[in-house]
Amino acid sequence: MSYARIAGTGSCLPGEPVSNDELVARGIDTSDRWVVERTGIRTRYLAPVDLCTSDLACTASQRALEAAGIGANDIDLVIVATSTPDFIFPSTAALLQSKLGMTNGSPAFDVQAVCSGFIYGLSVAEKFIRSGSHKRALVVGAEIFSRILDWSDRGTCVLFGDGAGAVVLEAAESPGIHASALHADGSHNQILCVPGGIASGQITGDPFLRMDGPAVFKFAVKVLGDVANEVIVQAGLCVDAIDWMIPHQANIRILQATAKRLGLPMEKVIVTVGQHGNTSAASIPLALDLAVRDGRIQRGQRVILEGVGGGFTWGAVLLEF
Ligand code: ACO
Repeated sequence: MSYARIAGTGSCLPGEPVSNDELVARGIDTSDRWVVERTGIRTRYLAPVDLCTSDLACTASQRALEAAGIGANDIDLVIVATSTPDFIFPSTAALLQSKLGMTNGSPAFDVQAVCSGFIYGLSVAEKFIRSGSHKRALVVGAEIFSRILDWSDRGTCVLFGDGAGAVVLEAAESPGIHASALHADGSHNQILCVPGGIASGQITGDPFLRMDGPAVFKFAVKVLGDVANEVIVQAGLCVDAIDWMIPHQANIRILQATAKRLGLPMEKVIVTVGQHGNTSAASIPLALDLAVRDGRIQRGQRVILEGVGGGFTWGAVLLEF
């Protein structure tokens, strides 16, 4: 049985960074001080109206393919994690496949696990590759969360941003991915949700993101600590053997509390929430690509990627880069 390793990474952020002061100038009842103190967020990127999630996914994917030194038709599996698809259907993965010019008939589908979506997608792709059925997967996290925010709700609209990150995962003789764990507990579905839909040509329910912030905070810190430990144990390692951790970038205080719970120094945690805000399924591959390109993450180093999001869902992957 073969293993799966990351052959290349890429990412895409739309337009220019938008500061907290810029949000105030646009009429949001907040302040740079409040947002920085509570969340660590200083800027986020907001997609212009003419860009779709699949456009961001396409640019991130092209960069990952280039980094891996392969073309789109060398990919035999496409998985896109998103909660903000271009359409109800076809899937964003199918649209991405078309935008990349892929003509080889590879399967393409979306994964919906909100902010854990990239971890879910990566785990699923690893299982395809380890089974021997597929050789090279493109796994993407892409979001335009700005379109599901209630811009009159200052408790949520300041937290999120848009972007995409992608990896090429390919079969290898040695790991690669050492361990992975996925979880969900649907009984917490109401603490972070967009409780709306479309029926008979009308919006039903509420089409905006709603969140019980303190409940999410508590839940996230607990499960991010637990699931990181779970993959460390599964891989037969101890926390000191971890070179880098990339948690879902929701809030600097969640990242700090998770690192503390694990006994991992913050110097080993990749932090992008200050620049990107919370980009949901895109946050982990965006942070990974940034740290690979700026030289912090090197080949052979051990990295934990971990996510938590609406559902509630959570999961982690421990890999040797
Ligand atoms: N600017 C200024 N004041 C604000 C803002 C804002 N943007 N938002 C809320 N406030 C005010 C509230 O109105 C409240 O005022 P009051 O005391 O006069 O009523 C006060 O700030 C405190 O509000 P809380 O909601 O209690 O603030 P809290 O300290 O809990 O921080 C936060 C809110 C940042 C959302 C926090 O709960 C949190 O970090 N939760 C985690 C949620 C998270 O990160 N979610 C991201 C998505 S989840 C995920 O990705 C897994």
